[in-house]
Amino acid sequence: VHEPHFQDSFSSLSVDADNLQKQIDELSSFSDTPAPSVTRVLYSEKDVLARRYIKNLMAISGLSVREDDVGNIFGRWDGYEPELPPVSTGSHIDAIPYSGKYDGVVGVLGAIEAINVLKRSGFKPKRSLEVIMFTSEEPTRFGISCLGSRLLAGSEELAELLKRTADGQNTSFSDAARFAGYKNAEDLSSVFLRKGSYSAFIELHIEQGPILEEEATSIGVVTAIAAPASIKMDFEGNGGHAGAVLMPMRNDAGLAAAELALAVEKHVLESGSIDTVGTVGILELHPGAINSIPSKSHLEIDTRDINETRRNIVIEKIHNSALAISKNRKVKLSEFKIVNQDPPALSDDSIIKAAESACQELNLSYKKMISRAYHDSLFMARISPMGMIFIPCYKGYSHKPEEFAATHDIANGVRVLALTLAKLSLT
Ligand code: GLV
Ligand code: MN
Ligand code: MN
Ligand code: MN
Repeated sequence: VHEPHFQDSFSSLSVDADNLQKQIDELSSFSDTPAPSVTRVLYSEKDVLARRYIKNLMAISGLSVREDDVGNIFGRWDGYEPELPPVSTGSHIDAIPYSGKYDGVVGVLGAIEAINVLKRSGFKPKRSLEVIMFTSEEPTRFGISCLGSRLLAGSEELAELLKRTADGQNTSFSDAARFAGYKNAEDLSSVFLRKGSYSAFIELHIEQGPILEEEATSIGVVTAIAAPASIKMDFEGNGGHAGAVLMPMRNDAGLAAAELALAVEKHVLESGSIDTVGTVGILELHPGAINSIPSKSHLEIDTRDINETRRNIVIEKIHNSALAISKNRKVKLSEFKIVNQDPPALSDDSIIKAAESACQELNLSYKKMISRAYHDSLFMARISPMGMIFIPCYKGYSHKPEEFAATHDIANGVRVLALTLAKLSLT
C-alpha cells in the first residue's frame, strides 16, 4: 500500500555515477599524505576544507545545512509531514593515516547523491530525509572512535572526558575544535539527541572485507556490528646506557611491550573462534634512541569479537598478562586504561527488510552479513532503529592506500540506499 511513487518507475533511480566518482576523487585530494594514500585527521586544515566541500554539496542539493557543537553536519530535505521523526543516513569523511579514499566517504557523498536521485525521480518524502556527516569516526587524533555519533547517542561519559582530553601535541580538544570553527566545544552535552529523534538510520559503506567481491554479490545487508574495545597502556623502567648497563641489571620497558604484544596474539587465539581479533597498532618506545634502553613504552590495543563476553575475556587476560609481565621484568605498569568497551549492535528488522526489498526490486543480488569493522551505526543504534548497506571492495582492502571500490558497485549501493530511504520515509 505504502509503496514509493516515482514519476516513472524504479528504473528512473539513475545515479550520476561519473559525477559521484569525480567527487570521491576530489575529496581525496584533501589529504596530508600523497595520493593514492589519504590522511585526513579531525579538525586539521584538510578536514576543514573537506567539511566545506561537503556542506557545499549539501547546499547544491537543496538541503538545509546545520552543524552541532562537535561538527556533526546535518543536511535535511523536508518531507510533507515534517513533524514526524526523519529518516537519516550518513557516515564519516575522516581518514586514518595512509588509508584510502572510500572508507566513510562513500556513505556521505553516496547519501547526498541518493537524495539527488530521489529528487530527480520526482519522489516526495513523507518523513524528512537527513544526511549526516559524523565527526571523527576514526580514533586517530584523540584516541576515541566514533566521537560524533557517541555524543549524538548521549554519551555523558564522553562529554565529560573531552573536557580534559588532549592530542599527542598537547592541544586540548576544545582548542582543536575552535581551530576548525567550532567555538562551543567545551560542553558537548548540547550534541545529545533524544531516543526517537529519527525513525531510522541507515549507513552505506564499503564492506572492508572480501566476501561480496569473492561471491560476486552486489550488496551486503548488515545484520549486526561486532563489539570493539580499545586499551591504552604504559610500562616504565629505569632506562640507561645500552653499553654500560649489563643485562641482569635491566628492566627494559620495550621488552615488556614486546612480550605483551605477543600475549595479545596468544589470548586472541585462545578464544578458539575465528571471530576474535586483536591488534597492537601503536607501540612507542621512549626515548627512542639506538643506544638507550627503553625507559617507557606505550601500547594501544584494539580487540573485537561478535561475541561480547568472549571479547571481554580477552581484555581480562591482557590485563593479567600486563600485570605478570610488569612483575617479572620489574617494570611499572603505570597505566592500563580501557578506552572503550562497546557492546555489539543489531540491525533493526524493519530496515533489513526495507533494504532487502530494495535489492529485489532493483534486481541486485544481496546477502545478509555481519560487519566486523565498527561504524557510526553502532552508536546510532542506541537512539534509532539502525541498518547498513555494504558494497564490494577490491580484495576487502581497507585502512590502506590500495582500498578500492568500482564506480558501478558504488552506484548500485546508492540506488539501494535511495530506494530504502524512500520506503522508510513513507512508513
Ligand atoms: C573503523 O574504522 C574501524 O576500525 O572499524
Ligand atoms: Mn575506518
Ligand atoms: Mn568507515
Ligand atoms: Mn570504520
